[in-house]
Amino acid sequence: MTSPFARIEPYDRSRHAEGPWQVVAAVFDEYGFPFAAFDYDADLREPEQWYPPDRGGMAVAVDGAGDVVGCVAVEGNPGGVFELHRLYVLARARRRGIGEALVRWAVARARELGGVALVAYSDIAFTDAHRLYERLGFRRFRFRYAPDPWRSREWGFRLDLASAQSQAAPPTAIACEAKSGSRSAK
Ligand SMILES: CC(C)(COP(=O)(O)OP(=O)(O)OC[C@H]1O[C@@H](n2cnc3c(N)ncnc32)[C@H](O)[C@@H]1OP(=O)(O)O)[C@@H](O)C(=O)NCCC(=O)NCCS
Repeated sequence: MTSPFARIEPYDRSRHAEGPWQVVAAVFDEYGFPFAAFDYDADLREPEQWYPPDRGGMAVAVDGAGDVVGCVAVEGNPGGVFELHRLYVLARARRRGIGEALVRWAVARARELGGVALVAYSDIAFTDAHRLYERLGFRRFRFRYAPDPWRSREWGFRLDLASAQSQAAPPTAIACEAKSGSRSAK
């Protein structure tokens, strides 16, 4: 028997509080990345200010215990190119489809707002995310040094929202089911 493992919900401070901040801080700790809570990473303290729903928004993945275990944000001008930000899932919740559901939520939001494309920049260390983006139809289109204090090395990924593959995005709330017969982690 399977049971719903997590739900994707638009961020709501009254229910999700500092959940996104805690998820990203934990993943940065895992990767040994510095976390600048009051500087470069300050968006996570005020998601509603940085990612307002009328320009995209932030979503969280909430597990059966009510804990925030993942997040994603999307931001852009209606009718233009949107950018996906802050895709993170806690290590303990990975490989259950939550990351894919979060990306699909971002794709759906960008499309709802008339976006022509969705781009994501990702540190070269995040190879799990690169496979995920390419599996969902994004193409790797550029390399850059990020505009952050560390000049992080990043790959850029782009999904043209008119393409057939991106039409598969589901509605904004998704229940992730833990599938039976799990594959082993790489
Ligand atoms: C990238 C990241 C968000 C993916 O999250 P996730 O929840 O593990 O993503 P998914 O579960 O949708 O997919 C991951 C893998 O699990 C597999 N999977 C999905 N559901 C599964 C299930 N029920 N059973 C077994 N495997 C499953 C997917 O096929 C995928 O396999 P692959 O990596 O071999 O291609 C997560 O690994 C993460 O936070 N990494 C560190 C931070 C990061 O890279 N962030 C991106 C910044 S741009």
